[in-house]
Amino acid sequence: MQISLAYPTVRPRRLRANKLIRDAVAETELSPADFIMPIFVKKGPKEPIEAMPGYYRWPVGDELIKHVEEAVELGVNKFILFGVLPDEEKDPEGKASYDPHGVVPTAIRVLRETFGDRVLLFADVCLCEYTDHGHCGVITTDERGRWRVDNDKTISIYAKEAVAYADAGVDFVAPSGMMDGQVKAIRQALDLAGYQDVGIMAYSAKYASAFYGPFRVAAASAPKFGDRRTYQMDPRNAQEAVKEVMLDLEEGADIVMVKPALAYLDVIRLVKQSFPWVPLAAYSVSGEYSMIKAAAKAGYIDERIAALEVLYAIKRAGADLTLTYYAVEAAKWLKEGAPF
Ligand code: PBG
Repeated sequence: MQISLAYPTVRPRRLRANKLIRDAVAETELSPADFIMPIFVKKGPKEPIEAMPGYYRWPVGDELIKHVEEAVELGVNKFILFGVLPDEEKDPEGKASYDPHGVVPTAIRVLRETFGDRVLLFADVCLCEYTDHGHCGVITTDERGRWRVDNDKTISIYAKEAVAYADAGVDFVAPSGMMDGQVKAIRQALDLAGYQDVGIMAYSAKYASAFYGPFRVAAASAPKFGDRRTYQMDPRNAQEAVKEVMLDLEEGADIVMVKPALAYLDVIRLVKQSFPWVPLAAYSVSGEYSMIKAAAKAGYIDERIAALEVLYAIKRAGADLTLTYYAVEAAKWLKEGAPF
């Protein structure tokens, strides 16, 4: 006798029989408009980032404009800027972070002038790219001579940095330093300077992660001593992300973020379910990109399918927006449709 299936026979495979039916019943849609593309800007010549194949540090100029234009034509119209500074321009307090003629404000001005409202511009607010010690804030020593990052001194510098970006014409500032009260300090400073319409995308649940490795090389922002575990979150915690997001919302965040994305899909889901009305971004970080690039180069995986699989997973988990180094490549691939 034949093995009997329940009657009426449920056969989920009918809905997987061919591409047309799979596309028709797919639960998740992905579009280039979901992406925020990171851009590293610097002075001097364009440089490839070795640990991130296909990624560059760009001087602000015609070539960068062309690069952005290509992305915009593919439907990628959101960009987040990171400044890269030579060591000799760094200091203990990261003063270059709020230089109105710094590389990030310059890039914002040029991109704004060139693209007007065809692009949304975000800028990362942090000090690790600007401090000589590489920490995300100002270092002090306590009574027993141990170093620590001074929370409140740091957030007043973040506030200046955010206002410098707003002066240049940014749409959203994105504080990533995981200092307590950073969103509130920035919101107050922006409002005081008359920038009520500049938004805040808060890196609310940012974990102390090994997946930032390639970025720290790219931005020359690795800490010279210690690590970031006294300010970034412990990878073992998920509920704590809900607390961090709640605090940032109370402080005035417009968009919240979970970072990294791939190893934290549960956190993305948890945050989305806890605050379904809040726009949620997820940062698919440098290590996630480099990992796929390296495996693909070795011939171990199909890059296109793996990269899109990850981006769909992040969206499926609950992210409305994804910061991804694959933005342009994924936009090209998506023109051919989902590869499933
Ligand atoms: C700055 C910052 C980091 C990233 C984004 N903003 C690095 C860090 O916290 O060390 C990581 C991005 C990535 O790995 O792609 N604080």
